[in-house]
Amino acid sequence: MTVTTSHPPDTSHVSHLECSATGERYENDRLHGLSRAGAPLLVRYDLSAVAAAVTKAELAARAPDMWRYREFLPLPHDRARVSLGEPMTPLIRLTGLEAELGAPKVYVKDEGRLPTGSFKARGLALAVSLAKHHGRTRLAVPTAGNAGAAAAAYGARAGMEVFVFTPADTPEVTVREIAFHGARVFLVNGLVNDCAKIVRDGSDRMGWHDLSTLEEPYRLEGKKTMGLELAEQLGWSLPDVIYYPTGGGTGFIGMWKAFDELQAIGWIDSHRPRMVAVQATGCHPIVRAAEAGLDHVPEPWAPVESQVHGIRVPKPLGDRLILAVIKASGGFGSIASDAAAEAARREVIEREGLHLAPEGALCYAAYRADLAAGRVRPGDHVVLFNTATGLKSPMPEAAATTLDASAPIDYGALS
Ligand SMILES: Cc1ncc(COP(=O)(O)O)c(C=O)c1O
Repeated sequence: MTVTTSHPPDTSHVSHLECSATGERYENDRLHGLSRAGAPLLVRYDLSAVAAAVTKAELAARAPDMWRYREFLPLPHDRARVSLGEPMTPLIRLTGLEAELGAPKVYVKDEGRLPTGSFKARGLALAVSLAKHHGRTRLAVPTAGNAGAAAAAYGARAGMEVFVFTPADTPEVTVREIAFHGARVFLVNGLVNDCAKIVRDGSDRMGWHDLSTLEEPYRLEGKKTMGLELAEQLGWSLPDVIYYPTGGGTGFIGMWKAFDELQAIGWIDSHRPRMVAVQATGCHPIVRAAEAGLDHVPEPWAPVESQVHGIRVPKPLGDRLILAVIKASGGFGSIASDAAAEAARREVIEREGLHLAPEGALCYAAYRADLAAGRVRPGDHVVLFNTATGLKSPMPEAAATTLDASAPIDYGALS
């Protein structure tokens, strides 16, 4: 359903949208879902116009948020922005662990600092902005949890109705967060692909705008800002290796798209990172396909046996795009167990004070194992993505002792 509204002319540099499978062009005059071939659509820009519109120096003087890259985004005009303040996220060097790792150039990009505590804010800020611009008032999203929280927040900000479908075992704190924003939340006895089917099948009846990852082309553009930001933070160069917890793969594909666009306008040279897709032992369809030399995931992964919620996607819609990035970058797929991720989470919080989400901890665990196995070199400049704050995931019980405030305290017994 397209609702026409009157608003200022589109001043973005979008030229068209393109089917990622066939290259077929789509006009940038309305909201689109998948292409006619059933594949994700990619937003294309007039890159020479982008290069003419902004310089690196101009960019450096802008506010430190994701909208500083507006020439690279499909936002029609600044007033269309639905924003909660999306700050640039820090790159934190693991200085406490580097001697033990024998690797001095390991950084975590901490995406937990964004609104609603995860990188999903980047994609949903943009997707909700575009939905609002095109006059939509009702949104629906299938989610492992974090995208639902972000959709609920940006939807509330935009005054829209939001329906969220999430697996029944999604952490309680996230379910409550979604509901607290005023969204309708539904707990589904399945995985995110089952939630996606409910949203897809209900679109005509319910008249909602389907925000499913990669079925909706603008979330990818929002996540692209992780790649733009990383390049800028590193002085318009890129690390040697990126570890990314890969579920639907939007960030993985989006970052590579950012690097393509930056190289096309001459802002970075041809040095690209090896892109490592990290998945869990109990659900790793992309890693299995990469290791088999396939260009797609032939069968959904079953049974899914992992509690690392963000990466439990049995067959991602963007499988071909993810596998193409791994191949083009000389990267690989890497797995770690849930137990290894929990141990890694503890190691990093105790040694570095940095509270990773299980998904970020999975990257650290995979990196440690790959370093020991020689898949990456100690001298490699590595960036591990921590895609959410650890605060929203269950924590171990506290070894706390109760004290009686009315009795004398035995300080000698405290340590
Ligand atoms: C914390 C976290 N990390 C990683 C992912 C996977 O993201 P992507 O779809 O970009 O692969 C998700 C998705 O739900 C997530 O919530």
